Amino acid sequence: MSEPTPEQVEQLVAGAQAARENAYAPYSRFPVGAAVLAGGRVFIGVNVENASYPLGVCAERNAVAAAVAAGERQIDAVAVVAGDQDVAPPCGGCRQVLNEFGPEMLVISASLAGVRRTWHLSELIPNAFGPHSLPPPR
Ligand code: THU
Repeated sequence: MSEPTPEQVEQLVAGAQAARENAYAPYSRFPVGAAVLAGGRVFIGVNVENASYPLGVCAERNAVAAAVAAGERQIDAVAVVAGDQDVAPPCGGCRQVLNEFGPEMLVISASLAGVRRTWHLSELIPNAFGPHSLPPPR
């Protein structure tokens, strides 16, 4: 895992903020944009809600899916842009999904007002259940 440079962090936050414009959140009216850094490239995602409410998918998970579909398996950082004032840290389900591809990744949450918080994922999901928790595949 490689720690992102300050320039890469800015690139991620900008990507997440731009992506957020395309979020599909007519029910919650809480658009979220996410961007992950994997293999030196940025992959974006937005929350995509559905009239069948439980089928909505978070922005982070869609960004992870984009990276994985492009062949990436290691994520070094994720930026999430949501909220007018306060930041929105990734939800519990997204923490678990992110953990699969980078337990020590940097997590940056930014609000529209410019508030920013940064953690390592292991702080947000300590003692995570992960690939190592399973017996080796046969
Ligand atoms: N949401 C995300 O996209 N990511 C999170 O980490 C938290 C919540 C979305 C889900 C739903 O579309 C909206 O925000 C309100 O919960």
